[in-house]
Amino acid sequence: MNPPSPAIQESPGDNPGGGAASKEPFLEELRAVISATSVLRQDEVLAKRTTLRVGGSADFYFEPDSENDLAAALRVCARHAMPFVLLGRGSNLLIKDGGIRGMVICLTHPSFSRIETTGYRIYCGAGAKLKQVAADAKRGQLTGLEFLEGIPGTVGGALRMNAGAMGGWMFDVVESLRYMDYSGQTHEDEAAKVTVEYRSCPLLKDHIALGAVLKGHPATREVVEKRMKSFSAKRWESQPAAPSAGCIFKNPGTIPAGKLIDELGLKGTRVGDAMVSQEHGNFIINDGHASAKDVLDLIEVIRQRVKAERGIELETEVQIIGE
Ligand code: EPU
Repeated sequence: MNPPSPAIQESPGDNPGGGAASKEPFLEELRAVISATSVLRQDEVLAKRTTLRVGGSADFYFEPDSENDLAAALRVCARHAMPFVLLGRGSNLLIKDGGIRGMVICLTHPSFSRIETTGYRIYCGAGAKLKQVAADAKRGQLTGLEFLEGIPGTVGGALRMNAGAMGGWMFDVVESLRYMDYSGQTHEDEAAKVTVEYRSCPLLKDHIALGAVLKGHPATREVVEKRMKSFSAKRWESQPAAPSAGCIFKNPGTIPAGKLIDELGLKGTRVGDAMVSQEHGNFIINDGHASAKDVLDLIEVIRQRVKAERGIELETEVQIIGE
């Protein structure tokens, strides 16, 4: 959630059923407070919104056209105890086959996807694609952000997951962070004041990233391009091109998960159409029409073998949501 993917955070809503009876008053109130250019739909198919291409539907799908609409929707959700999740590019995400009771919020409207370069700094909205941020850094002759090029996620997802690749972490390049709390208030913090961990920014488990100021260092365009090309070559030679959610497990301290799974001879192991990639042991690919259950069952097969043979408890990196 690379996949980076992720890109997902769940609200503490205490009405996971959503309940048919509560749908209409919720929708009515929500429609009354959002503008006509925000997108609101029911029963949204989500598999196509994830890079793994599995998972059921969301009861409600919302693309706010502004921070005001996002804040207004959060307040309606709170009043109706309606659970919600934030969805980025769905690249670090495994949505279960039963789908999501509640609302999926996606910050894909252009107002959330701005990228503006000023000197060494790049302001990017949460909905901006990392690939686009890397391209803009190259255009602005800034080095240090090349690793973002190969992460198929959004800025918001990468902030939430402290996404990483090629030895770099998202928060290595973040100078400041803008975010919203669940009551709709916006905040801004210097990155130095925000606690981050390997593959996590705990603050963003219950706050919504709105954007960040990233910082690069001056370099020639040729230098930036060369670094990008070498990262891209490394990625293509070691990672699968087939649909996946990036690395499935966090690397345990002692050995990379992919190497461990490879050493145990698990590459090619399948459950239905979910298969451990032949290219990289820490990727599960959708080799046709895998279901979320296939993927979850395969995760369990791997975890059990690893535990039995090496005594290591693998922890999933991919965010697993839904029912
Ligand atoms: N290896 C094997 N067999 C495999 C896979 C890897 O022997 O099947 C070996 C490699 O040869 C290498 C070592 O394991 O010596 C580490 O492999 P790699 O360089 O691919 O890095 P990784 O730790 O497996 C991490 C991130 C990736 C990121 C790459 C590249 C995690 C869980 N994964 O993978 O991030 O793209 O580095 O920098 O930290 C993701 O987060 O979804 C993701 C793909």
